[in-house]
Amino acid sequence: MSASIIKQAVEALQAGGLVALPTETVYGLGADATNPEAVAGIFAAKGRPADHPLIVHLPSATSLGQWAENVPQAAWDLAVAFWPGPLTLILKKQPWVPLAVTGGQDTVGLRVPAHPLTLELLAAFAAARAPGVAGIAAPSANRFGRLSPTTAAHVQEELGGKVSLILDGGPCVVGIESTIVDFSRDVLEILRPGAISPDDIASVASYPLSVASNGARETGTPAPRVSGSLAAHYAPLTLLRLVKSVALPREVARLVHTGRRVAVLAYGVFAPLETDLVFHWKTTASEPAAYARELYANLRTLDALGAEVILVEEVPNEPAWQAIADRLSRAATGSGVSECSTHGK
Ligand code: TXA
Ligand code: MG
Repeated sequence: MSASIIKQAVEALQAGGLVALPTETVYGLGADATNPEAVAGIFAAKGRPADHPLIVHLPSATSLGQWAENVPQAAWDLAVAFWPGPLTLILKKQPWVPLAVTGGQDTVGLRVPAHPLTLELLAAFAAARAPGVAGIAAPSANRFGRLSPTTAAHVQEELGGKVSLILDGGPCVVGIESTIVDFSRDVLEILRPGAISPDDIASVASYPLSVASNGARETGTPAPRVSGSLAAHYAPLTLLRLVKSVALPREVARLVHTGRRVAVLAYGVFAPLETDLVFHWKTTASEPAAYARELYANLRTLDALGAEVILVEEVPNEPAWQAIADRLSRAATGSGVSECSTHGK
């Protein structure tokens, strides 16, 4: 990738601008994490409430200690094992870290993303800053509550006109957001499931591990620590319903016969039923990594069809599918804003 685009991105960040950047999970909306005004620009562009904390992206694990204090050994072990990669660590913040980044909390989310272009940008931004501290605060580059973008074109759709620059690093290879592990309590807690599984984490960190079930820990608190833990999130505008595999053919037939425009996302076992009648049938991958990689693009495509309802085949109730099941259930809960008032949020 050309050095000039990286230079342009560094200059935009230094000037307090917003740069959309590719990561292996989803595209991020980046700003200088040490500049509260630049960070405020992220919240404005996304329409995101200011009490939702942001993840700070670092060029390497060596700068972890500049942002976090009292870093437990297990956190270092995870950083060494999985960075660059789809893992975010929640740690006690250094006192100087702006509250604008952490949503007013005394913890900070940190990760080193595994994308060559963004690693190059992070390194160049840090070099321009040296000996000062550098990091790029970046939530997913979508409007608040909507589907995360996994291509540069999705970012353009979501936020075009609101960013100084969109770095195009191709389609994201993981496709769903990073696993978030919270070290700020006695028990190590997975706040958001992702490609790095509880087993992966337990194999490295000898810590008592608990997995938040659908963000239940946050329910009822005024300022959710993980916005992705809101029951309604990552959502298409079209009503989306999850249907068990065995019930899918019957449910599709029922809706089609009542004249509904039905779009279907299935992962393999069924041949499309009455294909000529179903408005749109998408068969996606039957293997979880490939399913995740194309999940948001599939939902985005189905959402754009003008269907009345999107039926999604429920995925297997197995650990390897947990992060996907999490995103699908939130998409179902948050869906239908344009078509069904009871599902609005
Ligand atoms: O894969 C990812 O994590 C992507 C890419 C761009 O890195 N980023 C991403 O950011 O998903 P965002 O802002 O859409 O989701 C980050 C989640 C939010 O739900 C936020 O609440 C949580 O991380 N988070 C960040 N800092 C936190 C903190 N100090 N305590 C608890 N949760 C935190
Ligand atoms: Mg997000």
